[in-house]
Amino acid sequence: MASASRIVKAVIPVAGMGTRLLPATKSQPKEMLPVGRRPVVQYVAEEIESAGLKQILFVTGRKKTAIEDHFDTDTELVRLLSAADSHTLLEELNYTETEATFFYTRQSTPLGLADAVSRAEKFVGDDHFVVALGDSIIRSDSGGGFLPRLIDAHRRSGAACTIALEEVDPSDTYRYGIVRVASGTDQNGPFEIEDLIEKPAIGTAPSNLAIAARYVFSPAIFEAIRRTAPDRKGELQLTDSIRLLTQLGHPVYGLCLRWGERRYDIGNFESYFTAFIDFALADEKYGYMVRQYLKRKAREL
Ligand code: UTP
Repeated sequence: MASASRIVKAVIPVAGMGTRLLPATKSQPKEMLPVGRRPVVQYVAEEIESAGLKQILFVTGRKKTAIEDHFDTDTELVRLLSAADSHTLLEELNYTETEATFFYTRQSTPLGLADAVSRAEKFVGDDHFVVALGDSIIRSDSGGGFLPRLIDAHRRSGAACTIALEEVDPSDTYRYGIVRVASGTDQNGPFEIEDLIEKPAIGTAPSNLAIAARYVFSPAIFEAIRRTAPDRKGELQLTDSIRLLTQLGHPVYGLCLRWGERRYDIGNFESYFTAFIDFALADEKYGYMVRQYLKRKAREL
């Protein structure tokens, strides 16, 4: 019997091709692109660790070894910095000293997000688990963070899947996985989802609530993935697998990001630039300088 009482495992899929970010991603993973002073995937791992999860599986693929290197202790670099008394820089490398254990598996061909998640089946066993997309940062200015609330909502509802949701501009719904909820649903807490549609055609979206890169699943998702039909590109879409969960009678819930929480999807240049600017502006050390520069620059525009 799958247990949701204590969730300790997380899966970070990072095996996608990142074609929308070419040429920046020709020979490096998009998850390693810097946002401010850290690569995207470091924010994701830190968010998971602060939510108390202890086992993290990366689903990697071709050209993704930089991610493994990033989370490995570089003893030579540590030795050099120690010899040079560079304590500030040594502190920047502290993120590798973590209580969480990292595991790696490969998705040799990127056959879609659901296929990537299916690679975690053995790692997950009978446990409920978190999936956090490696190319998306959830920034939370509210105390406690979003992920612990999502996990808590999942445990309380007994759902087979609980999804992070964010409100998007109605004219942008065609870019996202969009959910349908019962009318009159109170969106301040977790609520049941009736249906999900991946990238609905313009004018057909059932709401403006978009799936926002964080999920909690029971192992029931693996059977749903096995039954999922590939899309037109031959890829298995996770939204379609979750839709199947609802059709098989499993409860699926959603929880909205709230004020002070925001998802940054680093999958295209538009949102990558936005993310970089926001994180650079908020940087403790360099933020002031960036703000002054942007103010000067804005006067020239
Ligand atoms: P995306 O669908 O945005 O990534 O996946 P992509 O396929 O790399 O993007 P484009 O369309 O080519 O630009 C979101 C996350 O899921 C992972 C990606 O690495 C990214 O972190 N992913 C996607 C996989 O691990 N495997 C896949 O087959 C697809």
